[in-house]
Amino acid sequence: MTGNPGIAPPGLPADREFSEEFSRLHVQARDWIDSYYDRDHMLRARDWILFLEPDAPESLIFAAMTHDLERSVPGGPVLDKQNMSWDDITYNTAHCERSVNVVGDWLREHDASDEFIEGIRTPIREHEFGGSPIGNIMQAADSISFLECNGPLVANWVLSGDCTLEKGLEKLHWMRDRVLLERGREFASQQCDAALAEVDRRLSGGST
Ligand SMILES: [Fe+2]
Ligand SMILES: [Fe+2]
Repeated sequence: MTGNPGIAPPGLPADREFSEEFSRLHVQARDWIDSYYDRDHMLRARDWILFLEPDAPESLIFAAMTHDLERSVPGGPVLDKQNMSWDDITYNTAHCERSVNVVGDWLREHDASDEFIEGIRTPIREHEFGGSPIGNIMQAADSISFLECNGPLVANWVLSGDCTLEKGLEKLHWMRDRVLLERGREFASQQCDAALAEVDRRLSGGST
């Protein structure tokens, strides 16, 4: 897992008990997400949820660790990284709504309760723009985790020609500046600084 120094990595709280339903789905989802290219980002989003909100509902924790999974199913919306805005409303809305459906369908196939399935909808739907109190926690965790994990990904976009360096850095700044949850902003800022340094290092010839 990629991580940046300076912040102790938050983990699952040892003093919290989880329901049988959540524990079962958590184990099954770990298998599901294992092959996803950005798995670490989703797992760290889960961890940041628990750091920002130790008593977070189980459905919010689950939403965090699955929130981008529509991208694992072919046929989804596509963002032109160079020519579209990172906050493109049409793309991001389609991405969020499709993830709600993909994760909801998976939960239904794995015998999750209606209440649990309902609980993942708002945080996944709002993970890019926030909106509700629970959506704002989800959005902060998504931003902080993206910045923590994905400096190398953004550097690869630039190196492979998907977008210019200027556009890649715009993505990192957007992930930092969009955070609505006040107590998440400091962490987003710290992780953004580390991500910017990581991009710079990789584009200067460093690879690991
Ligand atoms: Fe997303
Ligand atoms: Fe994400």
